[in-house]
Amino acid sequence: MRPVKVLFVCLGNICRSPAAEGIFRDLVKKEGLEKQILVDSAGTGDWHEGEGPDGRMIMFAKKRGYDLSDLVGRQIKAPHDLEDYDYILTMDESNLRNVRALDPSTKHHVKIQPLTSFCKVHSIKEVPDPYYREDDGFEHVLDLLEDACTELLLHIKNKDLK
Ligand code: 4NP
Repeated sequence: MRPVKVLFVCLGNICRSPAAEGIFRDLVKKEGLEKQILVDSAGTGDWHEGEGPDGRMIMFAKKRGYDLSDLVGRQIKAPHDLEDYDYILTMDESNLRNVRALDPSTKHHVKIQPLTSFCKVHSIKEVPDPYYREDDGFEHVLDLLEDACTELLLHIKNKDLK
């Protein structure tokens, strides 16, 4: 069976989406599903292409047991990424608009969804950009991502891996 491919998308690909990638790949690994579910992340912007995640996000994620140090930033590319991934999960409304704008045919719009739509514990529309925030912004992002990624994995197991 072809693996299910998941792409997390934020603006810079140095804070939110690499953290989502690191959390989700850990959950996938814990369940031994690394061959069935492939994970990546990207930014809508290209400013941080080739860079590692923001040092603050690396530090806060590490405190929770997630190692983001091997991740490298890249920009989402149309049409390739839109065709290649099954789940394209955006962090905020601006990311959602920008990614959908890469697909004027709307053919792939059903795959492009806000990651927060999977949150169960938190009732929130966006994963807020922590870049210009204080430290509590990073903890809040990680809380939201852990909630959404846990439910996303359950969803994929029930829908795609049955
Ligand atoms: P991210 O955060 O989208 O969660 O990676 C940001 C990182 C960098 C910038 C903005 C947001 N920036 O303007 O460089």
